Amino acid sequence: MTQSLPANTPSNRPANAFSAIRAPKDVDFDMIYPLAIRKQSITHWSPVNVCRMAAQLLAQRPGTRVLDIGCGPGKFCAIGATTTEGFFTGVEQRERLVKAARDVMRQHQIDRVEIIHGNILDVNFRHYDAFYLFNPFQENILSTLRIDYDVDLDPRFYDSYTTHVQQQLLRMPMGTRVVTYCGDCMEIPNAYACTQTAFNDRLKLWVKKHASPEYARRSSADEDDTNQPPLVLSGGLCPA
Ligand SMILES: C[S@@+](CC[C@H](N)C(=O)[O-])C[C@H]1O[C@@H](n2cnc3c(N)ncnc32)[C@H](O)[C@@H]1O
Repeated sequence: MTQSLPANTPSNRPANAFSAIRAPKDVDFDMIYPLAIRKQSITHWSPVNVCRMAAQLLAQRPGTRVLDIGCGPGKFCAIGATTTEGFFTGVEQRERLVKAARDVMRQHQIDRVEIIHGNILDVNFRHYDAFYLFNPFQENILSTLRIDYDVDLDPRFYDSYTTHVQQQLLRMPMGTRVVTYCGDCMEIPNAYACTQTAFNDRLKLWVKKHASPEYARRSSADEDDTNQPPLVLSGGLCPA
């Protein structure tokens, strides 16, 4: 009798899948996911050790609200919530990944995680304290990074998503922390400085260091978007 690979249902996954949530190795951790999602891990989902370090850097105090911008199947959120005392929200546009993420949180009884099905364009960053990005928008401009055919991709989307994140980050208070993993970091405005790197510079911690008159005006103003600060379209500077 031929043995097929584990299928896409929890009941058909190996017994150790349910202790995998705390596994330090990706090959073990990824057993929490159905095969189709597991197969995409090496390219599209953050490695466990990156998730752990990013979560530590972002959730510095109990209850810190961390947003994963494009959370995929929730790997960073799951690891963040089980290794820190932060509260992790993931926003994800692909329904099948949202379902996978919610299934994992439910099956492993992971509290302090919320998965939102939606587009980053609809998210107000003021509800969060810190932010994580693993190259969420580049599949719009680099076809080799396409995850699947579930959503439309367009270079214009890359521009609008990047601009939205820049605008939102500009309005955050001084000291706001952002961690990026890979990518060109074009989402990070120059008001943020890169203060730490790891994993051969692929992980970067950014901290908002520079107040701008535009920011000061925004903090006392209402949510009227006509007063938005001018965008700084180059990525923030990071020491090589
Ligand atoms: C490279 S994956 C990273 C997943 C996860 N953050 C991690 O580190 O494992 C980027 C994710 O961002 C999602 N994404 C891209 N653009 C988005 C948008 N505008 N709104 C919400 N999610 C988006 C993609 O569907 C994809 O799942």
